[in-house]
Amino acid sequence: MTGKSASNYHCWRRQFLAIRTREVLSRSLLTRCFVVPFIRLTVRALLVICVLPSNLALTGIAQTAPASDAGKISLSIDASKPGPKIDRNIFGQFAEHLGLGVYEGIWVGPDSRIPNTRGMRNDVVAALKALKVPNVRWPGGCFADEYHWRKGIGPQRAVTLNPNWGGVTEPNTFGTHEYMDFLDQIGAEAYLSINVGSGTPQEAAEWLEYLTTTQPTTLGKERAANGHPAPYKIPYLGIGNESWDCGGNMTADDYVAQLKIYSRFVRNFNPAQQGKQQMLKIAVGPGGNEPRFVEWTEEVMKAWQNHKWSWDMNGLSLHNYTVVNWDNKFASVGFGETEYGQILKNTLEMEGLVSKHSTIMDKYDPQKKIALVVDEWGSWYAPLPGSNPGFLAQQNSMRDAVLAALNLNIFARHADRVRMANIAQMINVLQAMILTDKEKMVLTPSYYVYKMYVPFQDAIFVPVAFNAGTYTHGDISLPRVDAIAAKDASGKLWLELTNLDPNQSVEIQATLTGATGKTAVGETLTAPKVDSVNTFEAPNTVVPKPVSAPVQGGKLTLKLEPKSVTVISIG
Ligand code: AHR
Repeated sequence: MTGKSASNYHCWRRQFLAIRTREVLSRSLLTRCFVVPFIRLTVRALLVICVLPSNLALTGIAQTAPASDAGKISLSIDASKPGPKIDRNIFGQFAEHLGLGVYEGIWVGPDSRIPNTRGMRNDVVAALKALKVPNVRWPGGCFADEYHWRKGIGPQRAVTLNPNWGGVTEPNTFGTHEYMDFLDQIGAEAYLSINVGSGTPQEAAEWLEYLTTTQPTTLGKERAANGHPAPYKIPYLGIGNESWDCGGNMTADDYVAQLKIYSRFVRNFNPAQQGKQQMLKIAVGPGGNEPRFVEWTEEVMKAWQNHKWSWDMNGLSLHNYTVVNWDNKFASVGFGETEYGQILKNTLEMEGLVSKHSTIMDKYDPQKKIALVVDEWGSWYAPLPGSNPGFLAQQNSMRDAVLAALNLNIFARHADRVRMANIAQMINVLQAMILTDKEKMVLTPSYYVYKMYVPFQDAIFVPVAFNAGTYTHGDISLPRVDAIAAKDASGKLWLELTNLDPNQSVEIQATLTGATGKTAVGETLTAPKVDSVNTFEAPNTVVPKPVSAPVQGGKLTLKLEPKSVTVISIG
């Protein structure tokens, strides 16, 4: 970031920090319990999640949760009580024109000596295909509110600026057609963010006409002339980005006025996307824990509740990064157990945030028609030494693997409302799946977590009752374990188990009801140290290894390594 935008940005981050600190202090006096009803459970089962904000110890407990001793954790999984579907879209990615995320990370151009298909690097495409990425949010972030799509189509591309991120030029060689081709190559769907900040409703409407019409309009013919006669499918449309700050510093009322106009006039003409298949529109929602965002969610949801036929929305976005100190960010590598604990404690605040905004949404939308879309989340550390600070380049360690699992589990437990999420960001930026350096590529610990979680895409949530125990380091207390379970389309039961304790293994004793099977097989991801990373020179330091355990009389016993993420199926 440069100049004015950078100082504004840091300013709100500072305010954000101050307010957050006050909030945490006041909340620390109380123990608060959130009761999360899982609709569609066959019995009136409630998962009671008690959050102890003073030390952030979190315990997932049902009324019948078995007791656990220090080295053992008992779980009971009732596969006969299916919950909501864990939407595959919660495993979405985010690719902004930022640093080396798009240029070099995805796009090297057709003339590159790096093996590529129509400019997209083959190694990255193959790695992403294995993740079954459901959707990719593009072109930003803050970048989206300054993006003018016409500069990125046709044979001559304008060179513009990227004022938000590193003060570099934007070649526009990766534009609309390249994005759609990339999605095609990895098998993902489009989540397009339109420019509400510096664009106009007409510009956005014309982009959608260009993309989706089958009629011989000038824009339709131009798309065909640029190589794509068939209309594109745009299933998800983001109307603005962080409109309360980098997207135009609007009040909730200002934004609602914009939302109504963009929602009305930015139409999808693809005949295959009418009626039930219609494009889903995602409105700007809250960002982090600031009190003003409670009002934001209230205002947008209230407007929607009273909406007329002429406009609509289907999702409300939520942004929340894991950062302990915005002014002095933690290092992404070369840290110890204290920073490990502090980051995980911070990341668990996602639970309170999702609960808080879901509760507001329930007031205006008890039928849960509007999805909460966590379309920016993940760890945000100090830039790597020697990198352009505006490129947000960071390493990705075993800590990030645990962090990813904890957040995905929070989304899964809120599957009735959280139906989409996008980790920031896919390649080379923030909590990335993949790092590249020219022709070299390495897969991060977060990548492996996403790969291990593939069976949870569109699986049916199954309640897990457990007392998480406590891991303590100095004045930090965290749950010792976390777990979710789900049934896939074939009826197979899958279980995810995270051991947060970086020093002690833990024995899991699980009682399975409503599921048969004699063995549990799967993979576990752990590492020698909390800050272990994969590098271009040593790419296999943090990689999953196979794990198996017998299931006898409906009981499974499995040892979890310290600081590990494990996914197993029962069969
Ligand atoms: O992901 C980086 C930036 O963080 C995005 O551009 C913006 O939306 C958020 O503040």
